[in-house]
Amino acid sequence: MLKQIGTPRSRIDGVDKVTGRAAYAADRRPDGQLYAFAVRSPVAAGTITAIDIGEALAVPGVVAVYTHENAAELLDWRPSPEVMAMSGEALGRTALAAVEPLPPPPYWPLGGPEIVFAGQWIAVVAAASLEAARQATLLIRPQVRQAGSSVHPVPASDVFLEPGFFFAAEMQVRRGDWPEHPGAALAETFRTPMHLHHPMEPSATVAVWGGDTVTVHDSTQGAMAARDYIAASLEVPPDTVRVDAAYVGGGFGGKNQMWPHQALAAHIARHLGRPVRLQLTRADMAVASGHRSETEQAIELASDGEGRLQGLRHVSYVPTSMRGHFFEPCGLNTLLLYDTPALEVTHHVARKAIASPTPFRAPGETPGSFAVECALDELAFQLGINPLELRRRNFAARDPHHHRDWSSNHLLACYAQGAAAFGWPADLPEPRTMRDGDVLVGYGMATTAYPAPALPATVRLRLSGEGPLVVETSATDIGTGMRTILAQTVADQFGHPVEDITVRLGDSSLPAAPTAGRSKSTASLLPAAAKACEVLRETLSRLALDNDLPAASNRSPMAVLQAAGLAELTAEGTSTGMAETRKDRSYYSFGAHFVEVRIDERLGRLRVSRVVSALDCGKIINPTTATSQIRGGIIFGLGMALMEAAEFHPTRHRVIGDNLADYAVPVHADIPPIDVIFIDSPDPDLNQFGARGLGEIGVPGLAAAVANAAFNATGQRFRDLPITPARIV
Ligand code: MOS
Repeated sequence: MLKQIGTPRSRIDGVDKVTGRAAYAADRRPDGQLYAFAVRSPVAAGTITAIDIGEALAVPGVVAVYTHENAAELLDWRPSPEVMAMSGEALGRTALAAVEPLPPPPYWPLGGPEIVFAGQWIAVVAAASLEAARQATLLIRPQVRQAGSSVHPVPASDVFLEPGFFFAAEMQVRRGDWPEHPGAALAETFRTPMHLHHPMEPSATVAVWGGDTVTVHDSTQGAMAARDYIAASLEVPPDTVRVDAAYVGGGFGGKNQMWPHQALAAHIARHLGRPVRLQLTRADMAVASGHRSETEQAIELASDGEGRLQGLRHVSYVPTSMRGHFFEPCGLNTLLLYDTPALEVTHHVARKAIASPTPFRAPGETPGSFAVECALDELAFQLGINPLELRRRNFAARDPHHHRDWSSNHLLACYAQGAAAFGWPADLPEPRTMRDGDVLVGYGMATTAYPAPALPATVRLRLSGEGPLVVETSATDIGTGMRTILAQTVADQFGHPVEDITVRLGDSSLPAAPTAGRSKSTASLLPAAAKACEVLRETLSRLALDNDLPAASNRSPMAVLQAAGLAELTAEGTSTGMAETRKDRSYYSFGAHFVEVRIDERLGRLRVSRVVSALDCGKIINPTTATSQIRGGIIFGLGMALMEAAEFHPTRHRVIGDNLADYAVPVHADIPPIDVIFIDSPDPDLNQFGARGLGEIGVPGLAAAVANAAFNATGQRFRDLPITPARIV
């Protein structure tokens, strides 16, 4: 009988986290550790002609300074061309590469004199103290022959899409013929700015060698992927590298790709024979661990007189770096969320002298949904149709892009339940007609959707004569509650109280599991945990039989162990990812956001006063942690709608606002009551639990719902984010 699954439960690691017992990467303080600190390039493009490190080396406590001129001392730090050319698959991430290839980092710092973005690491200091390391970096002044560079705007003459890019195959799609005489038509352009991940815990790596093996405490979403990358960079066998990411203080995609600092710490530690800590500053975080790029998106809609789409065109202009592989795939949801005979999704990607963009919580879906969901609101207003009704009329009953049925799709129920809980009116009041005293009130809504993938994963159970039942896998819990739902799953399957279960995660020496990203961990790991329980139960039954004990179910597992004379028993279970799911189904989650805003035009102040979101994410394993994930996504969306924007300096091209003082994110006082409703209907085709991941689906659509509500309040359209007071006229 299932008891724990479906039951709200606080995180089992909550107390460890808030009392400081949980050790994050930078909490490791090995004896004799050195502090490594980087010098960032002050210009965006050029060549280093000279770099004098003499003064830096003279600072007391400084042990070494590495630049491109002496980086060879790090023993093959600049990897061979073969390693640089390796795909994720060649690096050993075979299971991962099938669904999401993880290429090596976009550039190797200290690899040569060439500068390809402002902020690029051009020297690294290692010193006995952080103070000495920082002091030394100030004394390194490279001479640079500057080249011309451009970061913004995206010029039309400079657009292309390379075959090696992520998502490239899916990102130029045309189907159907554009209608010649549509009943209604609309063409608008939307813009979203650069966003920085800024998880609570900045990226950090502490590398400790012991003989020929290295332990790397690292803040990463993927312990196995980090191990493979670091080993490839060191040119050592993967099993000589152990990555420990037992606790990770948020990731959002910035920690799901590989970055040079993760390997550099191990290289320097090997060279100097001492442990090395390389912690990224907030300023480093803006350039050395990715960002979401700005986007410019041209949307064209054509519909009949009743708002049924006849054509949907979504053209995105996005940048990537000189060496990067990733661009913001804005059109992902556009391909399949609405039913339209004619569709065109195009991406123009321009290489710029900027740091590499990277996945960022619902990459593509997040900025893409802002444009499309705002445009649909404009069409609804033009036709005098309730925006909710317009979306119902365009509901895609099956996946129109892949020509498959949905495994399970309760979007219409999300619309109905969300609207009922919000009190969404059948006749949306005209703009500027709702007031609360001097404050304008507005309602807005939008759809959200996100795919539900799964990858093979292995979970091990460890039963010993004493102590708790231990659950082990290399998967990470980046703050999602993965530890807790694994304990709940094993509790149900194995009949152990949750309190008596210990979950060990994020260690690459534990059984293989994919990176926590693309909302796939729940559907990948829970079936593996269930299989491990099955294997352990069978083993116990066999032992009970062999030892003439009554059936295992009547005896405690401990008694069976004792009777068999065993100190410990382990069992592993491996899930199959999507291998056993129906190929004629599309696996997606859906939802709808409803938002109320209050705008004081005298101050230009927009406050979101309430949010109701209804979501279909399959069966909800733990309503407490699931609600937290969605709530966090919604708060991301509020930040995107109202505050978050990083910019490039107009001439120097460095990131402005590369700190948490200038880069505003919502604080408690900005966060309104948020009501999260789950349809909680199992998706039986995906796994035996019917559960889909939900780490990202809270974000898409939210900023559009805010902008649409702001239009309903003021009559003014907001097509550029964020909606700051200066934009409210
Ligand atoms: Mo997430 S952007 O899939 O790490």
